[in-house]
Amino acid sequence: MGASSIRFDGRVAIVTGAGGGLGRVYALELGKRGAKVVVNDFGGARDGSGSGAAAPADKVVEEIKALGGEAVANYDSVATAEGGAGIVKTAIDAFGKVDILINNAGILRDKGLLKLEPENWQIVLDVHLTGAYNVTRPAFGAMRENGFGRIVMTTSAAGLYGNFGQTNYSSAKLGLVGFMNTLKLEGGKYNIKVNTIAPIAASRLTEDVLPPDMLDKLKPDYVAPIVLYLCSEECADTGHIYNCGAGFYNRAAIMTAPGVVLGGGTKIPTVEDVSVNWPKIADLKGAREYADLNELVLGDVLAALEGKKEAPKSSGGFAAVKDVFAAMPGAFQAGAATTDVVFQYCIAGDGGGDWYAEIKGGALTVAAGVHASPGCTLKMASADYIDLMNGKMNAMKAYTSGKLKIEGDLMKSQLLEKLFKF
Ligand code: NAI
Repeated sequence: MGASSIRFDGRVAIVTGAGGGLGRVYALELGKRGAKVVVNDFGGARDGSGSGAAAPADKVVEEIKALGGEAVANYDSVATAEGGAGIVKTAIDAFGKVDILINNAGILRDKGLLKLEPENWQIVLDVHLTGAYNVTRPAFGAMRENGFGRIVMTTSAAGLYGNFGQTNYSSAKLGLVGFMNTLKLEGGKYNIKVNTIAPIAASRLTEDVLPPDMLDKLKPDYVAPIVLYLCSEECADTGHIYNCGAGFYNRAAIMTAPGVVLGGGTKIPTVEDVSVNWPKIADLKGAREYADLNELVLGDVLAALEGKKEAPKSSGGFAAVKDVFAAMPGAFQAGAATTDVVFQYCIAGDGGGDWYAEIKGGALTVAAGVHASPGCTLKMASADYIDLMNGKMNAMKAYTSGKLKIEGDLMKSQLLEKLFKF
């Protein structure tokens, strides 16, 4: 392998359900690339029945060792908290830590909703969703101590898009996306990245649903490269979902459209208002991805509350971005400067650049460049920024449509209109 090859030397990986199918291939590939691997598999039937077996996990451990790798087996079920703790304990006892966790174990109990008895609902939730919780919780603690972690959840196209006869499985699988959405925030400052894959591969779970001539083209080996990438130090992404199979890889995301504010934030809209505005409410045009719940609450809900607010008044006539910053000291309302704050502006494109406005003890300094510790960073394309400052674009709309990106203390950006009257 060349110098740029992606290696896992010194890393400890847990792969659940690694006794067969996709998990086996992940475990083998991680082992080949230097990781010490915990091969977990309960060894039950495809529907999760049976009292378990050691053979599937043992066999994969032997395969890894035969290739010169290091691995230990674990036969716990992910479906219990004790099982989850046991899997993580196996990693700590054998290798001293946990760096990588692939939540992969899975079963199927497909039935139309009316035939889906509670036990066939529950066991699928227990293995996929609660199973991921049972293993991830202790593993996350170990990762936090080390300041490094890579977690991969396994969802399914059935959860993302729906599939007849799989309400149990779809619910469990989409639950994992919710789990990831929050865990990515909790793991952020510890360099713990959490991503999710939706694989399509030939395995005992799909052998009777996929056409036989497709099975060879859908080998789990096609899924392993993206899973290993998501487990690597090279991966900086977190909170993403990827479909993968047969060599195609694409990103799926929950997108939110700009929508519409009815009633100006003061009047409760009527059912008829909703009906008349339905095309605008349901239109996905201009949809974008939110990083967390605050983007909805502080973005869309504030937009509704401020629905009556007019676009920022401006004397207009700014022809260039630099003119805005030149005019800033004259527009500054010292009386409104009740708190210290640094606004960093990163304006992209023609005539753009970096400027900052520092308010300290009621005084303003405006300068070109990047401030060492900005409180609130605003990013925009130069043409949009000129439109905004000339009153042709509403700030809240710019924000909700993604034209204005705000990093850091979002609430501080609310002060801008009071601080500067151009
Ligand atoms: P598989 O049946 O070959 O592998 C799943 C493994 O998990 C089995 O070896 C099984 O013994 C193990 N397992 C089941 N319950 C367990 C438990 N309670 N504790 C520990 N191990 C347990 O199936 P495949 O296809 O490799 O599935 C892997 C994952 O990928 C599953 O989460 C599945 O839902 C998901 N998936 C697979 C797709 C595919 O096209 N193969 C499509 C979408 C998702």
